[in-house]
Amino acid sequence: MPFFKAKEQAPAPAVDFDRLPRHIAIIMDGNGRWAQKRGLPRTAGHAAGAENFRTIATYCKDIGLEYLTVYAFSTENWKRPAEEVGAIMGLLKKYLLEAISRMERDRVKMEFFGDLSPLPQELQDLCRRTREISKGYDGCQVNVCLNYGGRDELLRAARAYAQDCVEGRADPNHLTAEHFAGYLFSRGVPDPDLVIRPSGELRLSNFLLWQSAYAEFYFTDVLWPDFTKEELHRAIAAYQGRPPVWRGLSGKTNFGGGHSGSAVFRCTVFPGAGVAGGADGGHLRPGLL
Ligand code: FPP
Repeated sequence: MPFFKAKEQAPAPAVDFDRLPRHIAIIMDGNGRWAQKRGLPRTAGHAAGAENFRTIATYCKDIGLEYLTVYAFSTENWKRPAEEVGAIMGLLKKYLLEAISRMERDRVKMEFFGDLSPLPQELQDLCRRTREISKGYDGCQVNVCLNYGGRDELLRAARAYAQDCVEGRADPNHLTAEHFAGYLFSRGVPDPDLVIRPSGELRLSNFLLWQSAYAEFYFTDVLWPDFTKEELHRAIAAYQGRPPVWRGLSGKTNFGGGHSGSAVFRCTVFPGAGVAGGADGGHLRPGLL
């Protein structure tokens, strides 16, 4: 019975905290089902989900994760009942107000991916404030995706790039993936190494379409409000247990527009052959990107 699955699972395997992924992205799914199973309104599931986001984000900061990106509200979520949308907006407001009051202590850097303009003005102002206050912080960077959709992001980037071409600031003959990534909401942020989706759904649902090109995926039946630190350990341990993949000719794993990726420990090692793509000129693992 999925409801009790978390309790039945084996203890979480050990995580190598010196070899954490640099960037984890999470689709916080399953709030509605979590509430339904308890005979509660869906909004109670979102409240539990928001609380869990706080717990997991704090834990990610504590273990030294560099980037955490969460899908909080998609471009499609406006189609939900007004009451549910309002409740999610209220939870976001509550979270941001609390985040502001703890920012100096936590030093978490907050960013937002998505077009914020359709959000309530008060929420837009809070997003700007948290971004402004935390922009110099060096702790974990938390990217909250709000009114975000991967296709929407790509269309916006394509439009902005086309405009730059028309106005002579860009030349299509010289377009590279790295250059194009500079037009995305995620510019300057390395691509996620690990994308986690709880709740048993096996889809990307328009989340970080460009950025997750080379990400590892971890799916679990556990619903987001029940996704504990131990679940996070399971996801990270699964990631760490997978054969490392050499990510690209340049030795970079991502096209985040300015940061190098986690190529160093994501290289393929063949016994006796050195490190693929590394300075020692080891052999490459072909094809499996
Ligand atoms: C998906 O579950 C979840 C959402 C659409 C909203 C996520 C929002 C929060 C966790 C609260 C606010 C966020 C922050 C960052 C404070 P679902 O409703 O689709 O669940 P279901 O698939 O079980 O119906």
